[in-house]
Amino acid sequence: METKIFSKEQIDEAVKLLAQGELVAFPTETVYGLGAIATNEKSVKRVYAAKGRPSDNPLIVTVADEKMMASYAKEIPERAQKLIKHFWPGPLTLLLFVKPGSLPKAVTGGLDTVAFRCPDDRLTHDLIAKLGSPIVGPSANTSTKPSPTTAVHVYHDLKGKIAGIIDGGPTRVGLESTIVDLSVASPVVLRPGEITPEEISAVLGEKVLINTGKVSDKEVPKAPGMKYRHYAPSAPVIVVDRVEDFAKVPFTNATGVMALAAELAKIPLPEENKFNLGNNLEDADHNLFGGLRYFDDKSSITQIYVQGFAQGEKSLAYMNRLNKAAAGHHFKY
Ligand code: TXA
Ligand code: MG
Repeated sequence: METKIFSKEQIDEAVKLLAQGELVAFPTETVYGLGAIATNEKSVKRVYAAKGRPSDNPLIVTVADEKMMASYAKEIPERAQKLIKHFWPGPLTLLLFVKPGSLPKAVTGGLDTVAFRCPDDRLTHDLIAKLGSPIVGPSANTSTKPSPTTAVHVYHDLKGKIAGIIDGGPTRVGLESTIVDLSVASPVVLRPGEITPEEISAVLGEKVLINTGKVSDKEVPKAPGMKYRHYAPSAPVIVVDRVEDFAKVPFTNATGVMALAAELAKIPLPEENKFNLGNNLEDADHNLFGGLRYFDDKSSITQIYVQGFAQGEKSLAYMNRLNKAAAGHHFKY
């Protein structure tokens, strides 16, 4: 299959393909998503095949607005209404009870809940509004690989497997949306993102729990995606928690380093072994997946040292992804 690249001006062609049941990747403010019409079971199943995604890992449903969501949610509780009013469109995904029979089982993995997302991206909004139906929107990467933040990343993983990619340029945030579970007694953040638990808590006026814990293969976690290997380049990743420890890393020609510009400048390695994460944490969020992909394509690199950030509200999402990429491996000497 030829994978066409569409510009922002060509979304009508993308809408046509989606309506025919084809798969089209689309930009959002977080990462690129892999779109298929959410009401068509056959199309949804093809999303799992294209990504190589285990079938018990349910898909996010991407909607144009709250009104569209209302056709697929059993109810929209007051908490959800508050969060929608404050954060939508935006990088906050809401887990609600699904309206029985409104979506194919392949979307929800047979669970009684569904994750709704309304991206802050004009193009995505227009795409879904024109289609008149929600689209599923898992990250448009091969399962286990870092999520794509450019159309080139999507093409790298999925060329020949999907009908098209809409190129909207690099995504703004660079890490996937915050997921908050509203199907339980107290709201729980299942995946941290740009919108922090504290911000959610402030809007709801109540405590918000955080549960991003890893579980064994045998358990059924609340967010099934959590049990799988994630964001992993082919070489092992090691987190460097304190920048002064970079001086103790045993660098060789096979070492890759990802760090902020100021740290990188001090590291005695050829430029091609270095990936600049930018000047601050926000830049690092934006660049993390791109850096992991940069080294994934360099077979000469056998280990990748990546700058960590001290625990805090704002670093939660970055450290969550980095810890997964590193499978919990931190630098010790
Ligand atoms: O920012 C994002 O959310 C991106 C963009 C493309 O919208 N999408 C995204 O989708 O990250 P995905 O499929 O890569 O991650 C969604 C996560 C998975 O870990 C999945 O297990 C979880 O959400 N999830 C989906 N439906 C769920 C449900 N009903 N219950 C629990 N977890 C669910
Ligand atoms: Mg994903």
